[in-house]
Amino acid sequence: KAFDLIIKNGLVITAADRYHADIGIKDGTVVALGQGLADADAEQIVDADGLWVMPGGIDAHCHLDQPMGDGAVMADDFYTGTRSAACGGTTSVIPFAAQQKGQSLRAAVDDYHRRSDGKAFIDYAFHMIVTDPTETVLKEELPALIDEGYSSFKIYMTYDDLKLNDREILNVLALARREGAMVMIHAENADCIAYLTELLESCGKTDPYYHAESHSAIGEREATHRAISLAELIDVPMLIVHVSGREAIEQIRWAQSRGLRVYGETCPQYLMLTAEDLKLDGFEGAKCVCSPPPRDEASQEAVWQALESGVFQVFSSDHAPFRFDDPRGKKLHGDKAAFHHIPNGIPGLETRLPILFSEGVVKERIDVTRFVALTATNAAKIYGLYPRKGTIAIGSDADLVLWDAARKSTVRNVDLHHDVDYTPYEGLELTGSPVMTLCRGSVVSAQGEPTGQAGYGQFLKCERPQPARPRGFAKGF
Ligand code: URP
Ligand code: ZN
Ligand code: ZN
Ligand code: ZN
Repeated sequence: KAFDLIIKNGLVITAADRYHADIGIKDGTVVALGQGLADADAEQIVDADGLWVMPGGIDAHCHLDQPMGDGAVMADDFYTGTRSAACGGTTSVIPFAAQQKGQSLRAAVDDYHRRSDGKAFIDYAFHMIVTDPTETVLKEELPALIDEGYSSFKIYMTYDDLKLNDREILNVLALARREGAMVMIHAENADCIAYLTELLESCGKTDPYYHAESHSAIGEREATHRAISLAELIDVPMLIVHVSGREAIEQIRWAQSRGLRVYGETCPQYLMLTAEDLKLDGFEGAKCVCSPPPRDEASQEAVWQALESGVFQVFSSDHAPFRFDDPRGKKLHGDKAAFHHIPNGIPGLETRLPILFSEGVVKERIDVTRFVALTATNAAKIYGLYPRKGTIAIGSDADLVLWDAARKSTVRNVDLHHDVDYTPYEGLELTGSPVMTLCRGSVVSAQGEPTGQAGYGQFLKCERPQPARPRGFAKGF
């Protein structure tokens, strides 16, 4: 038969269009978009009448089974993490192969393949994390790895075991420019954090809440500005990850208005949480400790505006899964630990799309085509997976989410499929949810429950992304 599957009668939505069409799928790819495709031509029919059919989400920033230096252990590996993502309408994830200082980058990537092989329910690519940009890394390992399909990497301006100094950042940016890789940067000023941490601790201010005060918006703003300046000096595009609020947004908007290729990413926590959430009783506030921290309501509003106006291209979860009631999780140093000993990060793979849909599309803050751009299409373009991933088009992978735009639900951690023992969004009322998720034409989740198989998910090689090209590219320098 011409098709393995036809998805009939749905409202197809991409980052550009919306139209009623049937989708014909063969061997995992979209091979036909049309009206009235004949049932007889397909092995299987799914009736999507009344549903919206969108590209499956791409979670371009999440942490799975990432080795931690301090004894903490991530709650999710590729098995539980991708299972959870699939149930939330996501069909590809891009977690991080992190280099430890002193380790070769190649070893970090090889290790991460061992951690992911045979475990994923959905497709996955890797970003690298470069923490030790030695001569060998810059001259040999990075160019080779970029060539092999690892065309993006993250660098850090903070965390003692991860951070690069400005000179190291310049070296790495120059390499990215030469090789056409996309640089992601964690922009917070390490010395501001260290200074404030000492100050707060010396006054006995050690509750989880003070994490938010120690990671100040001013330190984030300064680092964001510095990152942009270093990228401008080298003339290379850059993406600022997990932007928390107004101050950093102003810097990114300023850069963009000057024609720089600076991209921005934000996450659900910066829309839904504030620093006040770190003040929950006792140690409960640790559940919302992440970096940068959530800010205030004015910042939430600024983040919405930046999503609306196009300052942000990417909406990721930054899923960094640590169990709350666990000596390898948030209670690594007990439930009285000072804020700076609490593992950073919150879960969000499964709730990312439903939250942005309910709070953004249903409440008419963003258009549904922008929802698709933010949750899938732009990440595919920025990380070299487009048009195989991130859209619904002839020849693209049949990565789809069938969405019920009216269905009401309440977020309950017991209903989620990660291995974290809490969600910061417990009790949140949502409108709209995924009814079925297909990865390369295969149903990986239905009615919010997993239906796929571990090991089905394939590793994706990323091409050198067009958005990573420097401004001078066309002129040949
Ligand atoms: O607190 C966070 N975001 N932890 C994850 C690591 C990172 O910097 O993205
Ligand atoms: Zn980060
Ligand atoms: Zn992260
Ligand atoms: Zn201390």
